[in-house]
Amino acid sequence: MWWQDAVIYQIYPRSFQDSDGDGIGDLRGIERRLDHLAWLGVDALWLSPIYPSPMHDFGYDVSDYKDVDPVFGSLEDFDRLVAGARKRGLRVLLDLVPCHTSIEHPWFREHPDWYIWSDAPNNWFSAFGGSAWSRLDGRYYLHSFYPEQPDLDWRNPELVAAMQDALGFWIERGAAGYRVDAIDRLLKDAQLRDDPPASEQFGLPLSQEEAKLALTHSRNAPDTGEALARIREAVGDSLLVGEVYLPSAKWQPYLEHLDAAFAFELLHAPWDAERLHAAIAAATRRPGAAWVLSNHDFGRLVTRFRRENARAAALLLLTLPGPAFLYQGDEIGLADGPGGERAYDRAGRDRYRHPMQWDASPSGGFTTGEAWLPPVDPEATNVEAQLDDPHSTLSLVRDLLTLRRLLGEGIELIDAVPGVLAYRRGDHTIAINTTGEDRPAPLRGEAVLETAPGALRGRTLAGHAGVITRSDERVGHP
Ligand code: NOJ
Repeated sequence: MWWQDAVIYQIYPRSFQDSDGDGIGDLRGIERRLDHLAWLGVDALWLSPIYPSPMHDFGYDVSDYKDVDPVFGSLEDFDRLVAGARKRGLRVLLDLVPCHTSIEHPWFREHPDWYIWSDAPNNWFSAFGGSAWSRLDGRYYLHSFYPEQPDLDWRNPELVAAMQDALGFWIERGAAGYRVDAIDRLLKDAQLRDDPPASEQFGLPLSQEEAKLALTHSRNAPDTGEALARIREAVGDSLLVGEVYLPSAKWQPYLEHLDAAFAFELLHAPWDAERLHAAIAAATRRPGAAWVLSNHDFGRLVTRFRRENARAAALLLLTLPGPAFLYQGDEIGLADGPGGERAYDRAGRDRYRHPMQWDASPSGGFTTGEAWLPPVDPEATNVEAQLDDPHSTLSLVRDLLTLRRLLGEGIELIDAVPGVLAYRRGDHTIAINTTGEDRPAPLRGEAVLETAPGALRGRTLAGHAGVITRSDERVGHP
């Protein structure tokens, strides 16, 4: 299983590299940057949606599952990208958006019964606020996200067959699998019953409206596994990683069909050793965790954990057992930028999506035109400047990717003093100090990587730092 300990690099195609000067990233641009990814040492790239879309949710509103949006290129460009990636030993994963289509997908007009309708709305909320129901021609259609994203009915066999066809299409074209979008909302209560009031916390952050409800009916229906089995059927043994927005204790039915699920408990944990420890313990109670600390929905490491902790956060992400997802830009310590100002940015996520910064030029080397969203600080933060600096974030991430291959299987969390997260992976011990002060760390052997030079003195780890040590204890004990 190639993905078992793979590092999968998330590309937000709009913002990675533009090749034609229209200010929007595209597939040819990604192809041009494959050498960067191969040099960095990742195993695969995951492309956020590239399908034709009216872009109300930048591709998460699909209007054709079997083509490429002209803004990103063509099917031929996709084939070239896969071939180029393959040549460099990289796999390409796509984003499967099964929960909803665009309201402009021809299916919505031609096959209304593939969608979910009601004569009267129930109390379910959309993830972006407000009722999950919108009125059309005297009836209401369900949309778990924007009103431009009507929810599909996975209990309809015709819809399932159409989706299976689309899934197979990309696998045959060379995709190595899918990150599966919003899968906890794939199937809802068939009787559309109201969600009861919440009596306990959900375990992950929710909108204010949703936090008041138990969400027993609006997501995670008991027959979700049936739909997942059909998805699995269509992709064979290709990789399926689920965006299952549920606490890990509820993963089991999903993991019967998916290879892994994102550990959102860790993504949402504050930068505090005890809380990180608890989140890792919960997510590793069974195999199947995929690790993610940043993405196009929640922001980048530097902003989420503060600049002084970002290098230790990268170390954490890349030393846990199981596939890790690295968001474009985190390898150079790119920060979030401004957002929420443009009319379309209704959920305030532009700030996580500013373009990749390749060099110090005003466009960051992203485009020869005017970027759809300006780069944040190309002069201060860019790939070119960090390439030859052994202490740059880029060098740290590359070193981590090399070292990661030497870590032992599984994980043993170790008790440490408050403020220190520590775990063992075979001969290697990893310690992270989430405080701003020196702390003793339960390490063994010599440091093989520090997030800052001299961070480890004896067994004392500097504030904000992370370290990996390797013990030679086995030497002499065959
Ligand atoms: C999760 C995606 O990551 C997000 O960007 C999107 O808006 C929703 N799912 C709806 O597809």
